[in-house]
Amino acid sequence: METQAEFVDTYLDAATVANRIAEIGAQITALGCGNQPLVVVCVLKGSVMFFADLARQLNLPTNLVFLGVSSYSGSTESSGAVRLTHDLTLDIRDRDVLIVEDIVDTGLTMSYLLDILRARGPNSLRVCTLLHKPARKRVDVPLDYVGFTIDDVFVVGYGLDFDERYRNLPFIGTLRFGPN
Ligand code: PRP
Repeated sequence: METQAEFVDTYLDAATVANRIAEIGAQITALGCGNQPLVVVCVLKGSVMFFADLARQLNLPTNLVFLGVSSYSGSTESSGAVRLTHDLTLDIRDRDVLIVEDIVDTGLTMSYLLDILRARGPNSLRVCTLLHKPARKRVDVPLDYVGFTIDDVFVVGYGLDFDERYRNLPFIGTLRFGPN
């Protein structure tokens, strides 16, 4: 079988991403938190870089927690079926919760996350996504903080993968398949 070369073109460079995260961090900090630390949820694996950088821009008490979901499994198209691969290790009842995602594309993952987390009785539930791709929307989800609204392009890097590769790129790029 013929294999096609893959190319990554810079879409959002590291400085642009870092500047925007500092702005969002300041907005979230300005709202503060209640009596208990803000529960900041990293949605594995894609949001890991964004989560780590955003968390360091939050100047308020936090609990950092991890939730694993997957729906793309090696494809560039959402399968539509979201799976929980790792659950939270903290009870979020009556807590203020911030979900941190790398991208909202069809919205199916976020819709699923909101359903399962709402059912656990948090005091508040907010959503922060670095990227929003409205062109592929299949379901409406409320987004409290959006880093960048992007075109209908397949993005990789800074946590986002194609077939589990490219997550470690320090910038966000678009994936293009050969010849060049
Ligand atoms: C990606 C991304 C979001 C979701 C968004 O996760 O991290 O969670 O897809 O797409 P949607 O809005 O169409 O549902 P993926 O399932 O690829 O898992 P990963 O985070 O481990 O890469």
